[in-house]
Amino acid sequence: MTGTYDKYYQTKDLFGEPYPELVEFISNYPKKGKVLDLGCGQGRDAIALARLGYAVTGIDNSKVGIEQMNKIVEIENLNLYGQVGDIYSFDRYHEFDIVLLDSMFHFAKKDREKEIGLVKRIVSDIRKGCLIVVCIQDTGDKAQILNQALDYEKELSRLTDKKFTYSFEDSDTGHKSVTDCRMIVVEK
Ligand SMILES: C[S@@+](CC[C@H](N)C(=O)[O-])C[C@H]1O[C@@H](n2cnc3c(N)ncnc32)[C@H](O)[C@@H]1O
Repeated sequence: MTGTYDKYYQTKDLFGEPYPELVEFISNYPKKGKVLDLGCGQGRDAIALARLGYAVTGIDNSKVGIEQMNKIVEIENLNLYGQVGDIYSFDRYHEFDIVLLDSMFHFAKKDREKEIGLVKRIVSDIRKGCLIVVCIQDTGDKAQILNQALDYEKELSRLTDKKFTYSFEDSDTGHKSVTDCRMIVVEK
């Protein structure tokens, strides 16, 4: 399996550092359980969360990204298991305490139903007391679509719905960008 991101991941740390808002939320969350990072890429978040003491599983269809992440896991002996796979075929959500999806949803017309279907599947399959953490770009109606999909089960409570900006400078090109982001955390 080769993902379309394989070529982009020739650039080290393509997406930069984990969002401070995400790290802060997770650091303050009292339960240190099992995290599933769906579409973990090069391990930007998965590595940070493993360093915080979580047992992390990261799935991505980029073999290059998973290999880069696994190298760091080996050097630091982290509790992080990286697996090449398709997140849409994954079906073991009930095994995890936190399911993280960072920059995975765009809700563009062609993928919208598929992405909404994935959100609903996760909502329905996770155990009571478990969290779904989603970071998305806060443009257009993305957050609204996400919130509607999450509300598919009325028993969810929102722990956080936070807007923030993320500034990033590409180390190769020097290109600077500022992105409006949103982090939504729900508990079942
Ligand atoms: C924008 S990147 C975000 C990476 C990471 N979550 C982060 O925030 O640094 C999207 C990631 O999703 C992965 N991806 C996209 N579709 C996928 C699928 N169906 N199964 C597994 N991984 C997928 C890509 O390979 C890429 O690593």
